[in-house]
Order: sequence, then C-alpha cells, then structure tokens
Amino acid sequence: MPNFITDNFTPPLLPFSEGGYDFLWEAASPASHYVLVRKEKAEFFITIKSKDNNHVIKGEKISRPSQVLFLQQALQIYANRAKCNALFSNLKPSKNSRKIKNSISKDINEQNHTSSDEIYIEIGFGSGRHLLYQAKNNPQKKVIGIEIHKPSLEQVARQRDALGLENVVLVDYDSRILMESLPSNSVEKIFVHFPVPWDKKPHRRVISDYFVEEALRVLKTGGTLELRTDSELYFTYAVDTFLKNEKADVRIFKNFDLEISSKYEDRWKRLEKNIYDVILTNHQTSVEQEPLNTLHFDFSPNTDKIISRFSPKLFKGEGFFVHFETLHTKGNEVVVIKTAFGANERAEHSFIIIDKNKAAYFPNNIYATKANKMAHKIIAEWLHE
Ligand SMILES: C[S@@+](CC[C@H](N)C(=O)[O-])C[C@H]1O[C@@H](n2cnc3c(N)ncnc32)[C@H](O)[C@@H]1O
Repeated sequence: MPNFITDNFTPPLLPFSEGGYDFLWEAASPASHYVLVRKEKAEFFITIKSKDNNHVIKGEKISRPSQVLFLQQALQIYANRAKCNALFSNLKPSKNSRKIKNSISKDINEQNHTSSDEIYIEIGFGSGRHLLYQAKNNPQKKVIGIEIHKPSLEQVARQRDALGLENVVLVDYDSRILMESLPSNSVEKIFVHFPVPWDKKPHRRVISDYFVEEALRVLKTGGTLELRTDSELYFTYAVDTFLKNEKADVRIFKNFDLEISSKYEDRWKRLEKNIYDVILTNHQTSVEQEPLNTLHFDFSPNTDKIISRFSPKLFKGEGFFVHFETLHTKGNEVVVIKTAFGANERAEHSFIIIDKNKAAYFPNNIYATKANKMAHKIIAEWLHE
C-alpha cells in the first residue's frame, strides 16, 4: 500500500482540486483522519495517523482504488500541499503504473449481460494466463475474471488492454459473495484454478456447499464448474462437496495437461506434484432469479444522536453478524462508520457515510445477498434508534 512518513505536516485546507484529483473533506477520530479523494469515477480515503512528531500518510485499505496509480498520485499531491518532508516514501510510480484504459468493474451486473451472451467465469485468476488464453481463443465468449488481489487485477487489465481483448470483463469482488448476484442459467463454465487451499481453515475456501449451490443455479444445463488443484485435501473436499448434488455429475482427472499452464501450475510441476481436476456438470434448469439488487437506506439518520451513542459493537445473528468498528466525524455534519458484516465466513468490509443526513455504503454498493439483507436490517435499525 503506498504510504509515506513525515515529521513535517501542515494540514491543507479542504476542499481543493489539483491535477484532476478533488480532495473533498476530512473526518477525524482520536486515532486517525480520513481524507476523501475523488478521481474520475473512483472515490477513496487516504489515512493520516500521527504519533509524537511523525505522521504516517497512506492509502486506506477498504476503499483502495483498483488503480494504484490514483492512490500514488493523490498521496503525492497531498504531501506537497501539506509541506511534508518525507522520511520514508514508496510513492514513486513503478514503470507499470500507467493508467488502465478499460475499467475494472466493482459490480458484475454493470455489464448488462443478455441471454445470448456466452459466459465463462474464472475465479481467482492471479497472473491471468488461463483467463487471457480463454479470451483470445474464444472471441465469441464473454470471459469474466473475478479477483480480490488488486495488483493482479491491474496487471491483467494492462495485458487485456495491450492485447485488445474486448471480451474480457474484470471484476474486483470476493467471488464467494458475488455468485448470488448472477442470473440463473446464464453461464457455460466456471473455472477455479489453484485456489488458496486453506488446509487449516477450510471454512475460508472459495468452494463450499453454498458456493456449489449458487454455481449450479447460475450454470446453464450442461455447464461446468472446473476445479484444478495440487492440494490433495482440497481435491477430496471438492469431490465430497460436489457429490452432494444429485442433478450434477462429477468427473475426475489426474495429471491431465491443459493447453495453458498457470504460474502456480508451473511451480507445482517443477516439484513433481500431482495435479487434480474435479469437474462438476450441471443437469438442472434453475428457477429464474433477477440479478440481485443493492442495499440502500431510505431514511435520514440523525448524526448528533449517532455521535453521542457510538461505541464499537458486535452483533451476532443466525448465520450473519454486524460489527461497528470505528467512528470518524466531520463536526456533526458527516459521520463515517467503519463496519464489517454479512455471512460469518464471507464478510463485507465497508464504510457507512452519513452526509447531510443521507446514509450510504462506501466505497461500493452492497449486494442484497441473504446474509447481507439480515445484516442491513440490523444496521438500519441501529442508525434509526
Ligand atoms: C493460488 S492463486 C492461483 C492463481 C491462478 N488461478 C493460477 O492458477 O495461477 C489464488 C488466487 O485466488 C485469489 N482469491 C482468493 N480468494 C478469492 C476470492 N474469495 N474471490 C476471488 N479471488 C480470490 C487470490 O487473490 C489469488 O490470486
């Protein structure tokens, strides 16, 4: 994460604009300050933490924009305005830090899929070799890549732009939450290649009963969910999980070469590890489901009341939770609450910003998944108290 440390810091007056960046306002807590920055469609926070005479100024993790260049440039502009004297800095853009031409999406349904689209999805594409190979060799398919690792998203976005692959859509989201937002019977193939094995924490795996249920719903009849792994534990776990479904069949391959080998695969092959494919084919037509809505607040919270009664709080419900973590304020007009909520193993990390008595999730909209809806109800009741 881009950051710098300075022993000289004169907070600049807000708002100001420079070089295409708008620095809008600042909210404070006893521990840190957030400055809201806007660049084109991206909005994000930079964080300032002060201790003794030193100040650490860095990008904020939850709102980190998909393009790190935006963060580096915003921090550089802010540092100059604040007359900072950098004791340490990693702000210098690397040679890869050119702007990405085509965007990285935060919402899979932004693309308005039509029923005639032939869709492939790859989850956790990493270096993107397999994703780009599929897109290049199947120009009629829409190839959607879902990743949570921003540097991988950026790197593959640049390769996509360089290769002129217009059929690649990149989505910056946790695939475990995203599946529920896809329309039923719409996808031909879902690839999960070399997912993090989580041998000691299997509940964190991408593949779960819930994931397979949603995958079968979104797959067309004859569509496949394809796991490729070097982990024997993940392999047997996937076989057991896939076999729980009656309207699907499971095929297994050992050390079967694909046309393209990923970075991880090359490494495991050098170590002479076995590689397993577990392929689940869907044989059911699922009930149609509209793309999921996003969650919104339809009332005006009272910021004074929230400021006076806020304390960190954890609420546990049946299969979901809500954690109100920190509060930052700008006078009593703007309130920024850092939260985590949703399904226990698939948490959303988000801010709630209440500005001029209007509340909204930030930086992204939140999908109305089952667990998120239950969490949202608790959040709304708490804001309304
Ligand atoms: C071990 S790497 C494999 C990358 C690539 N598939 C390959 O074969 O080289 C696993 C990838 O999955 C991504 N990942 C992990 N959990 C994820 C999730 N819940 N949603 C989307 N991507 C995820 C990681 O960021 C990482 O890039």
